[in-house]
Amino acid sequence: PHLQMEEGLGSGFGRANCRAKGGSPGFKVAILGASGGIGQPLAMLMKMNPLVSVLHLYDVVNTPGVTADISHMDTAAVVRGFVGQQQLEDALTGMDLLIIPAGVPRKPGMTRDDLFNINAGIVRTLCEGIAKCCPKAIVNLISNPVNSTVPIAAEVFKKAGTYDPNRLLGVTMLDVVRANTFVAEVLGLDPRYVDVPVVGGHAGITILPLLSQQVKPSCSFTPKEVDYLTDRIQNGGTEVVEAKAGSGSATLSMAYAAVKFADACLRGLRGDAGIVECAYVASQVTELPFFASKVRLGRNGIEEIYPLGPLNEYERAGLEKAKKELAASIQKGISFIKN
Ligand code: NAD
Ligand code: LMR
Repeated sequence: PHLQMEEGLGSGFGRANCRAKGGSPGFKVAILGASGGIGQPLAMLMKMNPLVSVLHLYDVVNTPGVTADISHMDTAAVVRGFVGQQQLEDALTGMDLLIIPAGVPRKPGMTRDDLFNINAGIVRTLCEGIAKCCPKAIVNLISNPVNSTVPIAAEVFKKAGTYDPNRLLGVTMLDVVRANTFVAEVLGLDPRYVDVPVVGGHAGITILPLLSQQVKPSCSFTPKEVDYLTDRIQNGGTEVVEAKAGSGSATLSMAYAAVKFADACLRGLRGDAGIVECAYVASQVTELPFFASKVRLGRNGIEEIYPLGPLNEYERAGLEKAKKELAASIQKGISFIKN
């Protein structure tokens, strides 16, 4: 029923028995929203990931073309395309990890919350499919507003009786990627050696970089630098939306961040030790039911959620503001499914 492109088999002349297989475990990954601005480069980068043995590309449009194109890359992952809701179940069945960038992006002047009305319904439909076809898969949710779409996904899974909070992660990796980049610029460092925790959520003032905890290498910032960096990190998405002037929001840096995060989840699933990344998850770190902070990833998804650690006065004030907005966004998501 779906478009299948197996390397060496597309022409019907492949010799299945002769195919050399790598020694590492292969995971099955699906991208939902695979034809979009994020989905396409994300699909390309996941095809290059040696931990992926099967890559399913699902969207409501254009996956035959994207699948044909990506399937010609000479990497091991087998790529299959699925188009339209009637193929959603086939796309989901058997998957270990789902990455979801399905939904509309912002235009200048919009907030992420302005996307709620369209994207909430898209996320609900996809999560109903996940609950039915692959309830044990790890879910990496990218669709905005993340602060509300993760609570929506949790409510859908609860309703279906499949909810495992350790397997649902809102992707805030782009905030960390931006924080590392901007801090490295200010300090004149290689960004590879910078590691800024970013906690809270994924919209404006809910994005809370903990600059006082940037420890690799340990350093300090002037108050002016802290103001500049906090503002730039919190508004990095808007910076891209305005520069793209109506044609969308961050796609390439997001695909990069999504792959970095998905790779961490896969290494956790494989059993690697010490995999720690920031993500927006069901949490008891604050009084809110969802919060982004550092989590340790393992064979079952989230294995441990770390507390925020010491905050300075500036960060404590930011945290209070962030929590107020986050609480409303979480409630909006929960109510969308409950009512
Ligand atoms: P896009 O419009 O280029 O692509 C979205 C894709 O989703 C399209 O191909 C569309 O056909 C598909 N889609 C729509 N309805 C669908 C459905 N029901 N099932 C499957 N696919 C469906 O948008 P984009 O730039 O790729 O952004 C996608 C989403 O990611 C937006 O909501 C955006 O705000 C969000 N985003 C989040 C982050 C983050 O850090 N979490 C970063 C950037 C963008
Ligand atoms: C981002 O941070 O780039 C995304 O959330 C997209 C957006 O709307 O800003």
